[in-house]
Amino acid sequence: MTSPHRLTLTQFLIEERRRFPHASGDFNSLILNVALACKSIARKVAFGALGAGQGDVGGAINVQGETQKEMDVVSNQVFLQVNEWCGCLAGMASEEMAEPYQIPDCYPKGKYLLVFDPLDGSSNIDVNVAVGSIFSVLRAPNGDAAVTEQDFLQAGASQVAAGYAVYGPATMLVLTVGNGVNGFTLDLELGEFMLTHPAMQVPPDTCEFAINASNSRFWEPPVKRYVDECMAGQTGGRCKDFNMRWIASMVAEAHRILMRGGVFLYPRDSKDASKPGRLRLLYEANPIGFIIEQAGGRASTGRLPVLDVKPTSLHQRIGLVFGSRNEVDRIERYHNDAQPTEMMNPLFNEHGLFRMPA
Ligand code: F6P
Repeated sequence: MTSPHRLTLTQFLIEERRRFPHASGDFNSLILNVALACKSIARKVAFGALGAGQGDVGGAINVQGETQKEMDVVSNQVFLQVNEWCGCLAGMASEEMAEPYQIPDCYPKGKYLLVFDPLDGSSNIDVNVAVGSIFSVLRAPNGDAAVTEQDFLQAGASQVAAGYAVYGPATMLVLTVGNGVNGFTLDLELGEFMLTHPAMQVPPDTCEFAINASNSRFWEPPVKRYVDECMAGQTGGRCKDFNMRWIASMVAEAHRILMRGGVFLYPRDSKDASKPGRLRLLYEANPIGFIIEQAGGRASTGRLPVLDVKPTSLHQRIGLVFGSRNEVDRIERYHNDAQPTEMMNPLFNEHGLFRMPA
């Protein structure tokens, strides 16, 4: 029996480029460089405790105030080194760097910006769960001039491409160039990403939700209402049982939702007034939101489409809900139904005098 003919990522990109006869090839070269960075990180991650870089960086804290793992730093370095060379970028920004990264003068510059989280879910890397890299490609507004933070503050709707690599039992690269979503599996013998999941689609309905329930006392009433209804299952208004999942590695949750549907919530909450949400807009919410919407799902802040949000800073955090369309619509509806005072007033929170009934 002959094995099915599968396109490599390079062949897929060449076919995509045929739709744009005037394209210079820079974009394809950029995506292939990102894919190379992901292959390199996949190798490093796969060594586990046998390799270097599994521990914390001697007390180092990144710009997010989070403990940096050695693999965060190594993965960030890989992304920078592989991509600064390619001549298609005006600059880069990363979860691991406070400021935008300028392309060194020894390399040519180009018309795109690359924004990335080099190792999402890394706080769990020592327990061997799936982690991943997330990236977003934007157009550089000022050509190949030195980049500023302002250049990166573009709404998610203007992304040129977005993707993630998930380093699980198999390494996969999932990519959108604004024309649907395609999944590629790394063929370890060829060292090539092969198109294994063409035209990925998020089913519109689901019986699975993912949320960190330990934050429930900080949730706003619409989120509490939604989760309570899921938990009530068949005996409640939804008349069906739900399953709950929490991997604490968003890239792995996004991948599950792309494969079989589901809804993920890391909503705005009152846990820390300085953080209106846990996840970062530019290199987590926007790329994942673009992929999910291109696959027929939805991504929202809870109140409005996340891709419509105009960013105000490079490392801005935001509430994020994404996945099966009908569930995200429902969660947005619950937010719209709620009284604005309910959402902000501490008297209505879990310990408040006038707390909402369960
Ligand atoms: O942003 C990093 C991240 O690890 C995500 O991948 C994940 O969804 C989230 O944080 C986990 O948060 P928590 O520690 O609250 O479960």
